[in-house]
Amino acid sequence: MNRRTRSLLVWGSAALVLLLLIGGGIYTGYRVKSDRDARARAVALTGGDPDLGLRLTQRYGCAGCHIIPGVSGPQGRVGPTLQAYAARIYVGGVVPNSPDNLIRWIENPRSIDPRSAMPVTGITRDEARHVAAYLYTLRP
Ligand code: HEC
Repeated sequence: MNRRTRSLLVWGSAALVLLLLIGGGIYTGYRVKSDRDARARAVALTGGDPDLGLRLTQRYGCAGCHIIPGVSGPQGRVGPTLQAYAARIYVGGVVPNSPDNLIRWIENPRSIDPRSAMPVTGITRDEARHVAAYLYTLRP
């Protein structure tokens, strides 16, 4: 390899690494901003607090039956996964996925679908609002 080729290779690789770094930075910035937007939307939709909601899903054992991103520990498959819940069209397959319907479902699923297999967990309406806020931060 002559000197010219070698220096071309060195500068070429340096330029490539630089481009990858810049691209990665822009992508990370974009993700951080869109996460923040999703959170703000979830709060505006429900009036709940997503962080508190996440803690409440742990207190009421929701993950015993559902896969819920962000919850640590084992997760059950008795109920459907709650991944990307913000993009879900129906709650329980029966009513449109609106904040009111979701909060009502979490508090008392059988008030929406009497045949639902999901039990009443004892969570209050106010607490359900926070859980709904958390579920609406979950995007595809
Ligand atoms: C004993 C198991 C069990 C527990 C505990 C449980 N669920 Fe469920 N959940 C289910 C089942 C089963 C379904 C599906 C029922 C149906 O579609 O009628 C369901 C459905 C749902 C749905 C609708 C899913 C969809 O696809 O639209 C949501 C939202 C939900 N559960 C949230 C929660 C939350 C939040 C908690 C904790 C407060 C919780 N669940 C606790 C079993 C459970």
